[in-house]
Amino acid sequence: MEIISKLTGCGSYLPQNVVTNSDLAKKIDTSDEWIFSRTGIKQRHYAAVGENTSDLALIAAERALSHAGVTGQDVDLIVVGTTTPDRTFPATAVKVQKNIGCVRGAAFDVQAVCSGFIFALSIVDSMLKTGQFKTALVIGADTLSRLLNWEDRTTAVLFGDGAGAVVVQAVEVDTRSRNEDGILSTHIHSDGNLENLLYCDGGPSTTQTSGFITMAGKEIFRHAVTNLASVVMEALAANNLKGSDIDWLVPHQANKRIIDSTVKKLKMPKDKVVLTVQDHANTSAASIPLALDQAVCEGRIQQGDLLLMEAMGGGLTWGAALARWG
Ligand SMILES: CC(C)(COP(=O)(O)OP(=O)(O)OC[C@H]1O[C@@H](n2cnc3c(N)ncnc32)[C@H](O)[C@@H]1OP(=O)(O)O)[C@@H](O)C(=O)NCCC(=O)NCCS
Repeated sequence: MEIISKLTGCGSYLPQNVVTNSDLAKKIDTSDEWIFSRTGIKQRHYAAVGENTSDLALIAAERALSHAGVTGQDVDLIVVGTTTPDRTFPATAVKVQKNIGCVRGAAFDVQAVCSGFIFALSIVDSMLKTGQFKTALVIGADTLSRLLNWEDRTTAVLFGDGAGAVVVQAVEVDTRSRNEDGILSTHIHSDGNLENLLYCDGGPSTTQTSGFITMAGKEIFRHAVTNLASVVMEALAANNLKGSDIDWLVPHQANKRIIDSTVKKLKMPKDKVVLTVQDHANTSAASIPLALDQAVCEGRIQQGDLLLMEAMGGGLTWGAALARWG
Protein backbone atom coordinates (compact mmCIF):
# COMPACT_ATOMS: atom_id res chain seq x y z
CA MET A 1 0.00 0.00 0.00
CA GLU A 2 1.02 3.60 -0.53
CA ILE A 3 -0.44 6.96 0.55
CA ILE A 4 -1.20 9.47 -2.18
CA SER A 5 -2.65 12.96 -1.84
CA LYS A 6 -5.69 13.83 -3.93
CA LEU A 7 -7.27 17.15 -4.84
CA THR A 8 -10.89 16.61 -3.82
CA GLY A 9 -12.47 20.08 -3.85
CA CYS A 10 -11.88 23.73 -4.65
CA GLY A 11 -13.37 27.11 -3.94
CA SER A 12 -12.52 30.76 -4.39
CA TYR A 13 -13.56 34.26 -3.53
CA LEU A 14 -13.08 37.68 -5.12
CA PRO A 15 -13.94 40.92 -3.32
CA GLN A 16 -16.90 42.78 -4.81
CA ASN A 17 -15.12 45.99 -5.75
CA VAL A 18 -14.06 45.72 -9.43
CA VAL A 19 -11.57 48.30 -10.69
CA THR A 20 -11.05 48.54 -14.45
CA ASN A 21 -8.00 49.88 -16.25
CA SER A 22 -10.06 52.95 -17.16
CA ASP A 23 -10.87 53.49 -13.47
CA LEU A 24 -7.13 53.48 -12.76
CA ALA A 25 -6.52 55.95 -15.59
CA LYS A 26 -8.68 58.46 -13.68
CA LYS A 27 -6.32 58.17 -10.70
CA ILE A 28 -2.84 57.80 -12.22
CA ASP A 29 -1.13 58.49 -15.56
CA THR A 30 -1.92 55.25 -17.39
CA SER A 31 -4.32 53.86 -19.99
CA ASP A 32 -6.30 50.72 -20.74
CA GLU A 33 -4.26 50.33 -23.93
CA TRP A 34 -0.89 50.42 -22.08
CA ILE A 35 -1.93 47.98 -19.38
CA PHE A 36 -3.78 45.52 -21.62
CA SER A 37 -1.15 45.41 -24.39
CA ARG A 38 1.71 44.70 -21.94
CA THR A 39 -0.02 42.41 -19.47
CA GLY A 40 -3.42 41.19 -20.74
CA ILE A 41 -5.08 42.73 -17.66
CA LYS A 42 -8.46 44.46 -18.03
CA GLN A 43 -9.63 44.69 -14.42
CA ARG A 44 -8.91 43.59 -10.85
CA HIS A 45 -10.82 43.26 -7.57
CA TYR A 46 -9.86 45.19 -4.43
CA ALA A 47 -10.83 44.19 -0.91
CA ALA A 48 -12.98 46.70 0.95
CA VAL A 49 -11.68 48.58 3.97
CA GLY A 50 -11.91 46.14 6.88
CA GLU A 51 -12.01 43.13 4.56
CA ASN A 52 -8.80 41.25 5.31
CA THR A 53 -6.85 38.39 3.79
CA SER A 54 -8.31 35.91 6.30
CA ASP A 55 -11.85 36.98 5.33
CA LEU A 56 -11.15 36.18 1.68
CA ALA A 57 -9.38 32.95 2.65
CA LEU A 58 -12.27 31.86 4.85
CA ILE A 59 -14.90 32.12 2.11
CA ALA A 60 -12.65 30.30 -0.38
CA ALA A 61 -11.99 27.60 2.25
CA GLU A 62 -15.66 27.13 3.09
CA ARG A 63 -16.51 26.77 -0.60
CA ALA A 64 -13.71 24.23 -1.09
CA LEU A 65 -14.83 22.20 1.94
CA SER A 66 -18.42 22.15 0.70
CA HIS A 67 -17.25 21.13 -2.79
CA ALA A 68 -15.21 18.26 -1.33
CA GLY A 69 -18.11 17.19 0.90
CA VAL A 70 -16.15 17.59 4.15
CA THR A 71 -16.43 19.96 7.12
CA GLY A 72 -14.01 22.03 9.15
CA GLN A 73 -14.00 19.29 11.78
CA ASP A 74 -12.58 16.84 9.23
CA VAL A 75 -9.59 19.12 8.54
CA ASP A 76 -6.30 18.46 10.36
CA LEU A 77 -3.90 20.60 8.35
CA ILE A 78 -4.25 24.15 6.99
CA VAL A 79 -1.50 25.89 5.05
CA VAL A 80 -2.06 29.38 3.71
CA GLY A 81 0.25 30.85 1.10
CA THR A 82 0.18 34.60 1.69
CA THR A 83 2.37 37.68 1.60
CA THR A 84 -0.27 39.90 3.13
CA PRO A 85 -1.24 38.30 6.46
CA ASP A 86 -3.86 40.05 8.59
CA ARG A 87 -1.30 40.47 11.31
CA THR A 88 2.49 40.12 11.47
CA PHE A 89 1.64 37.19 13.70
CA PRO A 90 -0.05 34.83 14.28
CA ALA A 91 -0.47 33.14 10.93
CA THR A 92 -3.56 33.83 8.83
CA ALA A 93 -4.04 30.06 8.76
CA VAL A 94 -4.90 29.91 12.47
CA LYS A 95 -7.64 32.48 11.94
CA VAL A 96 -9.06 30.31 9.16
CA GLN A 97 -8.72 27.30 11.47
CA LYS A 98 -10.80 28.99 14.15
CA ASN A 99 -13.42 30.28 11.73
CA ILE A 100 -14.06 26.94 9.99
CA GLY A 101 -14.50 25.25 13.37
CA CYS A 102 -11.35 23.15 13.17
CA VAL A 103 -9.94 22.35 16.60
CA ARG A 104 -7.12 19.94 15.86
CA GLY A 105 -4.08 19.46 13.72
CA ALA A 106 -1.78 22.24 12.56
CA ALA A 107 -2.23 25.54 10.76
CA PHE A 108 0.53 27.81 9.47
CA ASP A 109 1.41 30.24 6.67
CA VAL A 110 3.96 29.90 3.90
CA GLN A 111 5.67 32.99 2.49
CA ALA A 112 6.76 32.43 -1.10
CA VAL A 113 4.93 35.43 -2.62
CA CYS A 114 3.34 34.56 -5.98
CA SER A 115 4.64 30.96 -5.73
CA GLY A 116 2.94 30.58 -2.33
CA PHE A 117 0.21 28.23 -3.51
CA ILE A 118 2.66 25.85 -5.22
CA PHE A 119 4.98 25.90 -2.19
CA ALA A 120 2.04 25.27 0.18
CA LEU A 121 0.77 22.43 -2.03
CA SER A 122 4.23 20.89 -2.13
CA ILE A 123 4.55 20.99 1.68
CA VAL A 124 1.07 19.57 2.19
CA ASP A 125 1.65 16.79 -0.37
CA SER A 126 4.76 15.73 1.55
CA MET A 127 3.04 15.96 4.94
CA LEU A 128 0.02 13.93 3.87
CA LYS A 129 2.26 11.23 2.43
CA THR A 130 3.88 10.73 5.85
CA GLY A 131 0.51 9.46 7.10
CA GLN A 132 0.44 12.03 9.91
CA PHE A 133 -2.39 14.12 8.44
CA LYS A 134 -5.50 13.12 6.51
CA THR A 135 -7.43 16.15 5.27
CA ALA A 136 -5.76 19.43 4.38
CA LEU A 137 -6.78 22.84 3.17
CA VAL A 138 -4.27 24.55 0.91
CA ILE A 139 -5.16 28.20 0.49
CA GLY A 140 -3.65 31.01 -1.55
CA ALA A 141 -4.93 34.37 -0.33
CA ASP A 142 -3.62 37.89 -0.78
CA THR A 143 -4.63 41.53 -0.58
CA LEU A 144 -1.74 43.02 -2.55
CA SER A 145 -3.78 46.20 -3.06
CA ARG A 146 -2.56 47.07 0.44
CA LEU A 147 1.07 47.11 -0.77
CA LEU A 148 0.61 49.23 -3.89
CA ASN A 149 2.63 52.40 -4.32
CA TRP A 150 0.42 54.81 -6.26
CA GLU A 151 3.52 56.85 -7.10
CA ASP A 152 4.81 53.86 -9.12
CA ARG A 153 2.47 53.30 -12.06
CA THR A 154 4.57 50.39 -13.39
CA THR A 155 3.62 48.17 -10.45
CA ALA A 156 0.37 49.74 -9.18
CA VAL A 157 -1.63 48.57 -12.21
CA LEU A 158 -0.57 44.91 -12.02
CA PHE A 159 -2.12 43.49 -8.86
CA GLY A 160 -5.49 42.53 -7.41
CA ASP A 161 -6.95 40.79 -4.36
CA GLY A 162 -8.54 37.34 -4.01
CA ALA A 163 -8.37 33.89 -2.49
CA GLY A 164 -8.56 30.31 -3.70
CA ALA A 165 -8.48 27.02 -1.81
CA VAL A 166 -8.23 23.32 -2.46
CA VAL A 167 -8.97 20.37 -0.21
CA VAL A 168 -6.23 17.75 -0.39
CA GLN A 169 -6.84 14.34 1.15
CA ALA A 170 -4.58 11.42 1.92
CA VAL A 171 -5.82 8.21 0.34
CA GLU A 172 -4.33 4.74 0.69
CA VAL A 173 -3.99 2.91 -2.59
CA ASP A 174 -2.38 -0.23 -3.88
CA THR A 175 0.92 0.90 -5.35
CA ARG A 176 -0.30 3.30 -8.00
CA SER A 177 0.59 2.91 -11.56
CA ARG A 178 2.45 5.82 -13.04
CA ASN A 179 0.50 9.07 -13.58
CA GLU A 180 -2.72 7.52 -12.43
CA ASP A 181 -4.10 9.54 -9.58
CA GLY A 182 -3.66 12.45 -7.16
CA ILE A 183 -0.68 14.81 -7.00
CA LEU A 184 2.01 13.27 -9.20
CA SER A 185 4.88 15.53 -8.20
CA THR A 186 5.80 19.02 -7.07
CA HIS A 187 8.98 20.97 -7.81
CA ILE A 188 10.00 24.10 -5.90
CA HIS A 189 13.02 26.41 -6.21
CA SER A 190 14.38 29.66 -4.81
CA ASP A 191 17.28 31.97 -5.60
CA GLY A 192 17.87 34.57 -2.88
CA ASN A 193 20.56 36.22 -5.00
CA LEU A 194 17.69 37.75 -6.99
CA GLU A 195 15.90 39.11 -3.92
CA ASN A 196 16.24 42.74 -5.02
CA LEU A 197 14.41 42.27 -8.32
CA LEU A 198 11.02 42.06 -6.60
CA TYR A 199 10.43 42.94 -2.97
CA CYS A 200 8.40 44.92 -0.51
CA ASP A 201 10.43 47.74 1.03
CA GLY A 202 9.00 47.36 4.53
CA GLY A 203 8.85 44.83 7.33
CA PRO A 204 8.48 44.53 11.09
CA SER A 205 12.19 44.08 11.70
CA THR A 206 13.37 46.90 9.43
CA THR A 207 10.91 49.76 8.98
CA GLN A 208 8.06 48.59 11.23
CA THR A 209 5.74 49.29 8.30
CA SER A 210 4.44 46.88 5.66
CA GLY A 211 6.03 48.90 2.84
CA PHE A 212 5.37 48.97 -0.90
CA ILE A 213 6.07 46.68 -3.85
CA THR A 214 9.26 47.43 -5.74
CA MET A 215 10.04 45.60 -8.98
CA ALA A 216 12.56 45.53 -11.80
CA GLY A 217 9.88 44.66 -14.37
CA LYS A 218 12.01 43.74 -17.38
CA GLU A 219 14.34 41.48 -15.40
CA ILE A 220 11.44 39.80 -13.65
CA PHE A 221 9.84 39.19 -17.02
CA ARG A 222 13.04 37.60 -18.32
CA HIS A 223 13.54 35.37 -15.26
CA ALA A 224 9.87 34.34 -15.32
CA VAL A 225 10.09 33.15 -18.92
CA THR A 226 13.32 31.20 -18.26
CA ASN A 227 12.46 29.73 -14.85
CA LEU A 228 8.92 28.72 -15.72
CA ALA A 229 10.05 27.00 -18.92
CA SER A 230 12.68 25.14 -16.94
CA VAL A 231 10.40 24.04 -14.09
CA VAL A 232 7.54 22.84 -16.31
CA MET A 233 10.03 20.75 -18.28
CA GLU A 234 11.43 19.41 -14.98
CA ALA A 235 7.91 18.39 -13.88
CA LEU A 236 7.15 16.69 -17.19
CA ALA A 237 10.49 14.85 -17.25
CA ALA A 238 10.02 13.63 -13.65
CA ASN A 239 6.80 11.91 -14.74
CA ASN A 240 7.93 10.83 -18.19
CA LEU A 241 5.28 13.06 -19.79
CA LYS A 242 5.25 15.59 -22.61
CA GLY A 243 3.32 18.82 -23.12
CA SER A 244 0.69 17.08 -25.21
CA ASP A 245 -0.20 14.82 -22.24
CA ILE A 246 -1.40 17.80 -20.19
CA ASP A 247 -5.13 18.46 -20.22
CA TRP A 248 -4.93 21.90 -18.62
CA LEU A 249 -2.19 24.39 -17.86
CA VAL A 250 -3.25 26.38 -14.79
CA PRO A 251 -0.52 29.02 -14.56
CA HIS A 252 0.11 31.84 -12.13
CA GLN A 253 -1.70 34.81 -13.66
CA ALA A 254 0.85 37.63 -13.68
CA ASN A 255 1.13 38.54 -17.33
CA LYS A 256 -0.44 37.02 -20.45
CA ARG A 257 2.81 37.37 -22.39
CA ILE A 258 4.66 35.28 -19.79
CA ILE A 259 1.92 32.62 -19.95
CA ASP A 260 2.03 32.62 -23.78
CA SER A 261 5.74 31.95 -23.64
CA THR A 262 5.26 28.90 -21.35
CA VAL A 263 2.48 27.60 -23.60
CA LYS A 264 4.80 27.87 -26.59
CA LYS A 265 7.52 25.97 -24.75
CA LEU A 266 5.05 23.20 -23.89
CA LYS A 267 3.69 23.17 -27.46
CA MET A 268 0.18 23.17 -25.99
CA PRO A 269 -2.95 24.44 -27.74
CA LYS A 270 -4.04 27.81 -26.33
CA ASP A 271 -7.54 26.55 -25.53
CA LYS A 272 -6.01 24.21 -22.93
CA VAL A 273 -4.79 27.11 -20.82
CA VAL A 274 -6.89 28.54 -18.00
CA LEU A 275 -6.58 32.30 -18.36
CA THR A 276 -8.02 34.68 -15.77
CA VAL A 277 -5.40 37.44 -15.72
CA GLN A 278 -7.73 39.69 -17.75
CA ASP A 279 -10.34 39.65 -14.94
CA HIS A 280 -8.27 39.18 -11.78
CA ALA A 281 -4.85 40.74 -12.56
CA ASN A 282 -2.02 39.31 -10.45
CA THR A 283 -3.54 38.06 -7.18
CA SER A 284 -0.20 36.57 -6.03
CA ALA A 285 -0.64 33.27 -4.13
CA ALA A 286 -4.38 33.25 -4.92
CA SER A 287 -4.09 33.25 -8.69
CA ILE A 288 -3.70 29.50 -9.37
CA PRO A 289 -6.50 28.24 -7.10
CA LEU A 290 -8.73 31.07 -8.35
CA ALA A 291 -8.13 30.02 -11.95
CA LEU A 292 -8.54 26.34 -11.08
CA ASP A 293 -11.85 26.96 -9.32
CA GLN A 294 -13.16 29.03 -12.21
CA ALA A 295 -12.38 26.30 -14.74
CA VAL A 296 -13.86 23.58 -12.49
CA CYS A 297 -17.05 25.63 -11.91
CA GLU A 298 -17.40 26.17 -15.67
CA GLY A 299 -17.11 22.42 -16.23
CA ARG A 300 -13.97 22.79 -18.32
CA ILE A 301 -11.73 20.85 -15.92
CA GLN A 302 -13.20 17.38 -15.45
CA GLN A 303 -12.49 14.53 -13.06
CA GLY A 304 -9.25 12.77 -13.99
CA ASP A 305 -7.88 15.66 -16.08
CA LEU A 306 -4.13 16.12 -15.82
CA LEU A 307 -3.25 19.61 -14.56
CA LEU A 308 0.07 21.40 -14.77
CA MET A 309 0.29 24.33 -12.36
CA GLU A 310 3.26 26.72 -12.29
CA ALA A 311 4.26 30.02 -10.68
CA MET A 312 7.11 32.42 -10.09
CA GLY A 313 7.35 35.21 -7.52
CA GLY A 314 9.56 37.37 -5.34
CA GLY A 315 12.51 35.65 -3.75
CA LEU A 316 12.89 34.68 -6.44
CA THR A 317 10.78 31.60 -5.93
CA TRP A 318 9.30 29.35 -8.58
CA GLY A 319 7.71 25.96 -8.87
CA ALA A 320 5.34 23.58 -10.59
CA ALA A 321 2.93 20.81 -9.66
CA LEU A 322 1.42 18.03 -11.73
CA ALA A 323 -1.83 16.54 -10.49
CA ARG A 324 -4.93 14.67 -11.64
CA TRP A 325 -8.10 16.55 -10.73
CA GLY A 326 -10.61 14.84 -8.45
C1 LIG B 1 5.83 45.73 -15.77
C2 LIG B 1 5.85 45.55 -17.28
C3 LIG B 1 4.42 45.36 -17.79
C4 LIG B 1 6.44 46.82 -17.88
O1 LIG B 1 6.49 46.67 -19.28
P1 LIG B 1 7.77 47.19 -20.09
O2 LIG B 1 7.48 47.00 -21.51
O3 LIG B 1 8.94 46.50 -19.48
O4 LIG B 1 7.70 48.73 -19.77
P2 LIG B 1 8.85 49.70 -19.27
O5 LIG B 1 9.04 49.50 -17.81
O6 LIG B 1 10.03 49.55 -20.19
O7 LIG B 1 8.19 51.06 -19.50
C5 LIG B 1 7.92 51.51 -20.81
C6 LIG B 1 7.33 52.90 -20.71
O8 LIG B 1 6.01 52.82 -20.17
C7 LIG B 1 5.87 53.69 -19.08
N1 LIG B 1 4.96 53.12 -18.12
C8 LIG B 1 5.23 52.31 -17.05
N2 LIG B 1 4.10 51.98 -16.43
C9 LIG B 1 3.10 52.56 -17.09
C10 LIG B 1 1.71 52.57 -16.93
N3 LIG B 1 1.10 51.90 -15.94
N4 LIG B 1 0.97 53.26 -17.81
C11 LIG B 1 1.54 53.94 -18.82
N5 LIG B 1 2.85 53.97 -19.02
C12 LIG B 1 3.62 53.29 -18.17
C13 LIG B 1 7.27 53.81 -18.52
O9 LIG B 1 7.40 55.01 -17.77
C14 LIG B 1 8.11 53.83 -19.77
O10 LIG B 1 8.04 55.11 -20.34
P3 LIG B 1 9.34 55.76 -21.01
O11 LIG B 1 9.71 54.82 -22.13
O12 LIG B 1 8.85 57.09 -21.44
O13 LIG B 1 10.36 55.78 -19.92
C15 LIG B 1 6.73 44.33 -17.70
O14 LIG B 1 8.07 44.60 -17.44
C16 LIG B 1 6.32 43.09 -16.97
O15 LIG B 1 5.23 42.58 -17.15
N6 LIG B 1 7.22 42.51 -16.14
C17 LIG B 1 6.90 41.33 -15.35
C18 LIG B 1 6.07 41.76 -14.18
C19 LIG B 1 5.48 40.62 -13.43
O16 LIG B 1 4.86 39.78 -14.00
N7 LIG B 1 5.66 40.65 -12.10
C20 LIG B 1 5.09 39.73 -11.22
C21 LIG B 1 5.87 38.46 -11.21
S1 LIG B 1 5.13 37.40 -10.05
